[in-house]
Amino acid sequence: MTLPHNIKLPTQPGPIGVFDSGYGGLTILRDLRRAIPDADYLYLGDNARAPYGSRSFELVYRFTLDAVTRLFAEGCHLVILACNTASAKALRTIQQNDLGRLDPSRRVLGVIRPTVEALGRISRNGHIGLLGTPGTVASGSYDIEIAKLYPDFTTTARPCPMWVPLVENREADGPGADYFVRKYIDGLMEADPQIDTIILGCTHYPLLIDKIRRYVPDGVTILSQGSIVADSLTDYLRRHPEIDTRITRGGVTGYLTTEQADRFADQAALFMGTPVTAHRVEL
Ligand code: DGL
Repeated sequence: MTLPHNIKLPTQPGPIGVFDSGYGGLTILRDLRRAIPDADYLYLGDNARAPYGSRSFELVYRFTLDAVTRLFAEGCHLVILACNTASAKALRTIQQNDLGRLDPSRRVLGVIRPTVEALGRISRNGHIGLLGTPGTVASGSYDIEIAKLYPDFTTTARPCPMWVPLVENREADGPGADYFVRKYIDGLMEADPQIDTIILGCTHYPLLIDKIRRYVPDGVTILSQGSIVADSLTDYLRRHPEIDTRITRGGVTGYLTTEQADRFADQAALFMGTPVTAHRVEL
């Protein structure tokens, strides 16, 4: 979606936009709603084009820019990329090249930086495992951020290309999922048996959490991003009242998807624990 130059974005306050390639960002949205329950939210899942994890830098950037533009046009002044792949491959370019053209007063934030900041409070020995999409792992974004903040830490990363398709095809609880959950966790722990903290570096992965817990060795902390991102956003809004005042406060969440609305609503309702109405949109 490209905004024609003469179209003005709505200026009145609006919901917080939350974007993911599909269902994964719901794991972030759930914690955002717990932390800031009176805010309005607008979730956008690009389910028709998910998974993003194995797509090129250029496509992930283009799709993410489509989504951000759409959420701005829907009235959002703040958009959270609740997607590691988009945060790794598109966030910086959008912040540096596109925001100025779209509206420099709006904000787009990602999930990688707050996750890395939390590591220092959690890891005891500095041996970090990262599980993410092929795109996130190949981008090296986590390694770079971790090396900046904690130069003594060792990061071992493994891509999990089958996990997002399992979630998007609603096979996360099925018996077939065990094979691939175990395979990637075993591979990671064999690469560095000293790992004491594993980052679930894809927002879809908490939807596999029961199985992940089954195969992660005792004593290893599993770090999922929802509550970390929610705490970080709470802090951000406290420090940025000019953004805070541009968020509407009715406690209402809307859902947009690029695939079948009914199917999305069923899955989202299960996960959010409340009835959900979704609308289909084209990007
Ligand atoms: N949930 C996303 C992430 O955090 C993207 C998964 C995908 O579409 O491959 O990386």
